[in-house]
Amino acid sequence: MTEKEFRPLNYTQNIQSGKVTWKSPSNIALIKYWGKKENQIPANPSISFTLDACATTTTLSFEKLNNSVTGFSFDFYFEGKEKESFKPKIISFFTRIQSYLPFLKDYHFTIETSNSFPHSSGIASSASGMSALALCLMSIEKELNPNMEEKYFTKKASFLARLGSGSACRSIEGDIVEWGFHKEISGSSDLYGIKYPFEVHPVFKNFHDTILLVDKGEKQVSSTAGHNLMHNHPFARERFKQANDNMSFLKNIFKEGNLKKFTEIVESEALTLHAMMMTSVPYFVLMKPNTLQIINKIWEFRKKSNLNVCFTLDAGANVHVLYPEEEKFDVFEFIKNELVAYCQNGHYICDRIGYGAKKF
Ligand code: DP6
Repeated sequence: MTEKEFRPLNYTQNIQSGKVTWKSPSNIALIKYWGKKENQIPANPSISFTLDACATTTTLSFEKLNNSVTGFSFDFYFEGKEKESFKPKIISFFTRIQSYLPFLKDYHFTIETSNSFPHSSGIASSASGMSALALCLMSIEKELNPNMEEKYFTKKASFLARLGSGSACRSIEGDIVEWGFHKEISGSSDLYGIKYPFEVHPVFKNFHDTILLVDKGEKQVSSTAGHNLMHNHPFARERFKQANDNMSFLKNIFKEGNLKKFTEIVESEALTLHAMMMTSVPYFVLMKPNTLQIINKIWEFRKKSNLNVCFTLDAGANVHVLYPEEEKFDVFEFIKNELVAYCQNGHYICDRIGYGAKKF
């Protein structure tokens, strides 16, 4: 599929007003997207577990304007309060997608959005937020064109979400989503995420992700600025190759259910992401002392217990602790007794693999 196929033909319906609501989850990347080309094209393929508890709910109300406007006509509310500061993000998102959604200039929109997690948790809401908004817009397009097929709906929602925030394209479906062309993954595309199409061992089906909130502050470097640091990065080429190789390894790991190898790939990906940030110009250290304390504790515990608990990181200090359903009691005891002390105000979020966005 090319971009062109996401430009709609004429709409068959004429709708005056309406309201749609979607709840869309966050996701946690196992193979990281870090580095992009123009138009939100990823420099390497990535793959993630869709989450369940961390989610954004967005209601989009729309009312036909009497005349088309030059700019976009919308109001934005975050957790019940009007938020002017979020508007520029929406304007640049609408600008990027308007040729794929020609109705954008015909309506006045009211966007009301809220997160299931506290805004000041240091958890990025762009994946859940942009995917929820993309899905609402697709629901409007489906009302204008009721013959639209389900498959196209999902694909285009992911395509639009990507133009809002790359990782958001992995938040439409569950439970494992791949984004970016990879030679061994049929149907993979730089334009949208796809539900991972191959066999997955049952051990990966109910994975848990306990998110340890080490630092709830604003990010030191936005991910968009971070991605840009991969241009002319001395290790970029090797890194992009490594991500492709890791995807091939992960394919076998998922099939065999090899948790030891899973740990190796996932932790190496997290540390490589941070290594890229530490070796770019300018350079950043986004881990905090407690991030390292937690990592060391996990390694110690894993050696002692022989359990399959591992960690991954986003572009920040918080730690995602991943473990299979079968080991949840022992690992959760360990988290409570030994890791929570390193969290800011003892805060953490219990999440797990989820099955994608839901319409209300
Ligand atoms: C480290 O998707 O937030 O979480 O496309 O600029 O919005 P933009 O970036 P974003 O980057 C996410 C980076 C990451 C890794 C990942 O989720 O794959």
